[in-house]
This record gives sequence, C-alpha cells and structure tokens, in this order.
Amino acid sequence: MATATTQAPRREAFGSRNVFILSAIGSAVGLGNIWRFPYVAYEGGGGAFLIPYLCALLTAGIPLLFFDYAIGHRFRGSAPLAFRRMHRAAEPLGWWQVLICVVIATYYAVIIAWAAMYTWFSAQLTWGAGNEESFFFTDFLQMGDVTGGVSTDFVPQVGFPLIGVWLVVIVIMALGVKRGIGAANMVLMPLLTVMFVILVVQALFLPGAMEGLNAFFTPNWQALADPAVWASAYGHIFFSLSVAFGIMVTYASYLKRRTDMTGSGLVVAFANSGFEILAGIGVFAALGFMAQAASTDVSGVATSGIGLAFIAFPTIVSQATGGSIIGVLFFGALVFAGVTSLISVLEVIVAALQDKLGWRRVRTTLIVTIPIALISIALFSTTTALAVLDTTDAFVNAFGIMAVALVAVIVVAWILHKLPVLREHLNRRSSFKIGRIWILLVAVLAPLVLGYLLISEIVAKITTPYGDYPVWFLSIFGWGMAIGLVVIGMLLAVLPWSRRSHAKDDPDYDEFLAVERYEADPETGTVRVSDATQNGARP
Ligand code: ALA
Repeated sequence: MATATTQAPRREAFGSRNVFILSAIGSAVGLGNIWRFPYVAYEGGGGAFLIPYLCALLTAGIPLLFFDYAIGHRFRGSAPLAFRRMHRAAEPLGWWQVLICVVIATYYAVIIAWAAMYTWFSAQLTWGAGNEESFFFTDFLQMGDVTGGVSTDFVPQVGFPLIGVWLVVIVIMALGVKRGIGAANMVLMPLLTVMFVILVVQALFLPGAMEGLNAFFTPNWQALADPAVWASAYGHIFFSLSVAFGIMVTYASYLKRRTDMTGSGLVVAFANSGFEILAGIGVFAALGFMAQAASTDVSGVATSGIGLAFIAFPTIVSQATGGSIIGVLFFGALVFAGVTSLISVLEVIVAALQDKLGWRRVRTTLIVTIPIALISIALFSTTTALAVLDTTDAFVNAFGIMAVALVAVIVVAWILHKLPVLREHLNRRSSFKIGRIWILLVAVLAPLVLGYLLISEIVAKITTPYGDYPVWFLSIFGWGMAIGLVVIGMLLAVLPWSRRSHAKDDPDYDEFLAVERYEADPETGTVRVSDATQNGARP
C-alpha cells in the first residue's frame, strides 16, 4: 500500500512515432545548423566539403544515432539508467552526458535570448546603418575583458530576455513529454520550416545571391588533403545530430515497444542535413548580396558563428530591400530552432533525476531547471558572457561530447560486447535492417576517428591557449569544467537510487522484457533479452 502511494508515475511516452520524429528533428536542427554549418562548410572547402561531411554522416553520425536509439529503447531509461541497466559500472557514462547537457543548456539559452532580441531589433533596424559590429559588442553585449576576472555587472537587455527564455522552456518542460515537448515541437517545427523556406527563397532573389552560392559550392579540392577539414566534419556532425550527449537515448526511451527506429533515424538524419544545406544556401545567398554591396568578395564578408548571425546578418538586414522581414525570419528561426533543441538538452537532465529520485515531473523540472537557469543568468547576462560562452562551448564539444562518445563506444563495444544485442534489437522492429558493417563502424571506425580528433584537440589546445584567454580563465571554464564533468559524473553514479524510483521496480520495463522474451526465437537465440537481468543490471 505504502509503496503504491509513494511510487513515481509510469514512464512517459511520445504520443506517436511522428511526434518522436518531429521532436528528434527539433533537437537536431538547432543553432548549429543555422549559423555553424554554413561557415564550417565554407572553410572546409565549400562544395568539396560535402565529401567529408557525407562520410562523417554515413560512417559516424547515423551509426551513432542508431547506437543511441538502441540503448535508449532497449534499456528504456534516461542516460544513467539505460547505461546502468546495460551494466552497473556503466552508469557514470550517463551522468557524464547529463552534465555535458547542463553546461550546454546554460549557454545555449543565452544565444536564443540574443536571437529573440535581434528579432525585435530587425523590425526596427535598432543598430543603425554601418554600426552593426559595435552595436553587437559594445551597445548590446557591453562586452568587457576577462583579464580582471569574471564580471558580475548585469546587462539588462541580455538578462531580461534570458529570464524570459528560461520561463518559456521551464513551462514546456513542466508540461511533460507529451503535452510539453511533443506539443512544442508539433507547433514550432512546421513554423520553423515555413519561415526558413521563405527566408531562403527571399535570399535567393537578392542581387549578388548567385555570387554567394558560387563561393559556397565551388569546390576547393585541396582542402580535402587537410586532416583538420575531416576533423571539423566529424566534430560538427555529433553536435548537429545531437548524438552522444544523451538526448537520443532519452527520447528513444519514450518510444513504444514496436517502433521502427532505424527508419525514423534515417528520416531524422536526412532532415537535419537537408536543413543544414538549405541554411548554407540561404546564408551564402545573403552573404553574396552583402559582398556585392560592399564591392568585395564573399571571403571578405563570411565570418564564423556568432559574427555571422549577429554582425553579418544585421548588415544584410540594413542594406536589403525588405531587410526587416529577412531579419525577423532569420532570428525568429534561430529562436524556434534553439528552443526545440534546448528542451531536448534539458530533458536529458530532468529524465535522469526523475529516474534516480523517483520524483514527479513538475517537481523534478523545477528543482532541476531553476538552479541551471540561475547559473545561466549569473554567467551569461554579464559583460564577460561572450568569453565564457566561447570557451565552455569549445571545451565541452571537444572534451565533453567527443570524449564521452569515444569512451561510450569503447565500453559498449569492447568491454561489455553489447553491439550484437543492440543490432538485433534494432533489426527486430525496423524497416531498414542494419548489417554487420554497423558493428564495424561503431566498434572500429568511430573510436579511431574520435581518438584521432581528441588527441589533435588536446595537442592544439595545450600548444596554443584557446582564444588567447588568460591561463586561470581556461583552467576554470575550459580544462577544469571538462575534467569536473567526469569527476562529478562518477560521484553521482555512486549515490544510491531512491527507493521511490521506478528504476528499481519498473512495471513498464518488466512488461517490456517479458514480451520481448515471449517473442524471441529460442532456437536461433537471436534476442538475448535475459542479458539485462542476468548481468545484475537492475539498480
Ligand atoms: N543539435 C543541436 C544543434 O545543432 C544541438 O544546435
């Protein structure tokens, strides 16, 4: 009796496979697609970059997307619970991913807040003509130097929209998987797509657009000989597809037992890439216009990430006929794409704590997201926000996402030998059957590529201090943060699971295993569902 009243409710689920697909696309299509991809592709050889990009997508992105889906669906839990059910000792991997999401969420929210303000500024051309760069750094961010320490000076035009972003996402998260995350994606993703298509078409009609497209697509074959270009293609695909940081594990755990996962994965991966290429076309058409207006070539105006969105685009908005509409569509698209990705990042954290502590949805959401929101506001609405953002983003991508992906594939493939089980699991219910090549890609190619990338990143960041920031600063927000995630992840894994947690006594999971066992073919032994319980995998 007592347990019945204190037990957490049953695991949530997406309303349908389509809602899951839309939510997974919503997670994948984010800030990375809109302002990161166009420039990464341009720097990596333009048209020729499509070769390393497609290789990265087919040999690492999609295989690891399937890997995440299989873990989440087979072990039916948030990242820590799914890894723990696979093997007790693997739980820290899940917490490492959760903590990576904590870091990403803190700075991702502020970029959405900037974009929200720029949507408003676009309508009125607040920055004034020819003043876009100083407007962004001086007037808007009130950017200061970190040499004197991290500032506590509050910048209201950043801080208040940031509080607004957090309020919106906290409400979505509190509403749960179906009524919050699923519903938000059902509304925002179609809107985002329509806005983006209108934006790209409008950009294509700007004078000079074709010059921009030529610059974007003209292949520079020499770039392919540079290992750094291949590294950037692989590095980009992880962030872009939202693989290896727990999101797809968590989302897949909300799927019904009989769901075609590889088919869904292919839809998600190709939709994400389609969006990325569309973003490249739209952004470079606009840059072509900007170059023509400034009587220079596209290389003179193409800047990276933040500069592209918050300096180059406002310039285009000022100069183009109907520029305000372009600005509202571009920054509005950034906000929508950002929100659907941010909620997926937060879901990794909320789901993990809900599983471990057995709390209800609203309580967990508030207890988890409010402190993260406060840290985000404290760090990123001050005058030193940009330096902290730049550093944490660079280090969490390299030594968070890529590092955890490497360790996870080694542990699952080489120590726990779970890839055949995961492959069987995917193949039993999916339209697109994956062959042994998948095992080869995940167990051999992925660790080789990731190992190479990680070592190059370590060497690069040790030999040249990142961004010329002071050593104390990089030690805290760069190296310290990256190492801290591993240490805290291990500590969280040692903490006991609450007695109220469904992870211990989960009717959903028991039923799932029972039906799997029933359906398995004992003669060929293709499904070894007993693995989970025999390995002492129960928390
Ligand atoms: N996949 C998300 C992005 O591209 C995180 O921004």
